[in-house]
Order: sequence, then C-alpha cells, then structure tokens
Amino acid sequence: MIKKDWLKINHHETIAANIMELKCSGPLVKQMTQPGQFLHLRVDTSDDLLLRRPISICDVDLEEETVTMLYRVEGKGTKRLSSKQIGEKIDVLGPLGNGFPLEATERGETALLVGGGIGVPPLYNLSKQLKKRGVHVIHVLGFQSKENVFYEKEFLELGETYVVTVDGTYGEKGFVTDVIKEKHLSFDTMYTCGPTPMLSALQNAYSDRRLFLSLEERMGCGVGACFACVCHVVGDETGTKYRKVCTDGPVFPVGEVVL
Ligand code: FAD
Ligand code: FES
Repeated sequence: MIKKDWLKINHHETIAANIMELKCSGPLVKQMTQPGQFLHLRVDTSDDLLLRRPISICDVDLEEETVTMLYRVEGKGTKRLSSKQIGEKIDVLGPLGNGFPLEATERGETALLVGGGIGVPPLYNLSKQLKKRGVHVIHVLGFQSKENVFYEKEFLELGETYVVTVDGTYGEKGFVTDVIKEKHLSFDTMYTCGPTPMLSALQNAYSDRRLFLSLEERMGCGVGACFACVCHVVGDETGTKYRKVCTDGPVFPVGEVVL
C-alpha cells in the first residue's frame, strides 16, 4: 500500500552552508519506524517540478508525530523546498524503501556508522535506535570543509564521533577511510551512506565484513514503476539482473550491487 499524506512544517532553518533542517508533523509519521527509509516530497505543483525529490528520514518522534529531514540546497527542487515557510504543508509519499537492518547488530556489539556529506542524516536515527537496543555506536562523519559540517553535537551525545574534512579546516584531514585506519576503529557491523566513491572505497576495503550501504541513486517515481533507479547485481554476466534502489534498497548488503 502506498502511503501519502500532507505534513505540516513546524521548523525550517539553515544549519550549515546550503544545508537546511526541516521539521514537519502529521499522522503519517507514525509509520516511520525503520531507520534509513526515505520520503518522496512533492515540492511544487508546477509542471517543471512534477517529479518528487527523495529525502531521508533523519529523526522521528513517534509520540509527537514529528519528523526531521536535513537536505542540501542543490538544484531547482531543493531550492523551491527551501523557500517553504512554517505552517505550509508538503505533499509526502512514504516512508519508502528498505532501511538499515537493526537486527544485524546484537546487544553489546559495536556498530561503526560512516556518513559522507548529505549521506549523514539517515545515520542519526539509526544511531539512536541502535543505542536503544544496547549497541555501542561510533560515528565517522565526512564533509568537504568546516562550513559544511552539521550535527556533530547531536552525534556526540550518542557516542564517540570523529569529524573529517577533505581540506582539513575542521576535525581530521582527509577521507573517512583514513580516519577508520588511523584511529584503528574496530567494529562488528558497519552502516554507511554517502557519495558513490566513498561507498566504493568502503565496499572494497571491507568486502569480507558485515557492511550495509545506502545508495543515493537518481529517482523518478520512488515506488518501483519507472526503472530510473536501477543498478546491476554483482557477478551477473548476462547484464540482465538488477535491483531497484527505491524498492529493493536504498540499503544493500556489501557485494550485492555494482556501485
Ligand atoms: P536537480 O539536480 O535539479 O534534480 C533534477 C532531478 O534529479 C530530480 O528529479 C531529482 O530528484 C534528481 N536528483 C538529483 N540529484 C539526485 C540525487 N543525488 N539522488 C537522487 N535524485 C537526484 N539529499 C539530501 O540533501 N538529504 C537527504 O537526506 C537525501 N536523502 C536521499 C535519499 C535517497 C534514497 C536518495 C535517492 C537521494 C537522497 N538525497 C538527499 C538526494 C536528493 O534527493 C537530491 O539532492 C535532490 O533530489 C536534488 O533535487 P534538485 O531538484 O534540487 O536537483
Ligand atoms: Fe522509479 Fe525506482 S524510482 S523504479
């Protein structure tokens, strides 16, 4: 069953360079129980903005029926979204997709959560839920530069957190993979979301480990009907086997899809 409703904007502000925090409320939030799922937002009714925009669920309060999303102002759609005011309503489809498997990590084990840029938001709700289950959480959050860093304090409240910037203007200098090695971070499960080169580097380095990757493929319908988001299955020589990121993912276990 496709779930669609209107959510009302309660809070909308800039929290880092081009990064907005959007909090909304409505009965649909009750269904947002799995971390790593996403919402498909209709940002405008004009013809050139007909396609919805996928944005991850960053945080939810099921009792208060509020959801938080963090997004980067990129192109036309997210620019239009950023102009929306408190009190306005947004047409939302979701929660969609298969999120991160919480049960892959047992109580007392350690989960390493690795985010890159706008891949960081879904890890926040994941971290909260893992912690609630008695899992020890460590975060490595990668950004381009100091001005792009967000949610460091929020992640620190949940556990050990390393921030890394490519240009070294804040935290460690380099890439998330450098920090994992330099700090000798050990873990039972790794969960990650971010740009494809980062996911590829992690998939190559940790192919023999318990690793789950969330992909940010371009999307159309978001519900499995248009094939805009397909990616190929690893080891398929016929080139005919594929997965849809919107309905089979966005989270996949290591080694399942070609990045
Ligand atoms: P334009 O470039 O003008 O978009 C043109 C078209 O391309 C639109 O249909 C748009 O949906 C699509 N598109 C462009 N870039 C992407 C992209 N990276 N991924 C998917 N579709 C894209 N961004 C965030 O800032 N925060 C999030 O939490 C977040 N979560 C996401 C979760 C999933 C599962 C996916 C697939 C993407 C997520 N993104 C997130 C990326 C976000 O959807 C795009 O940045 C956004 O759609 C760009 O729209 P635009 O109109 O501003 O840009
Ligand atoms: Fe249409 Fe995935 S976005 S099939």
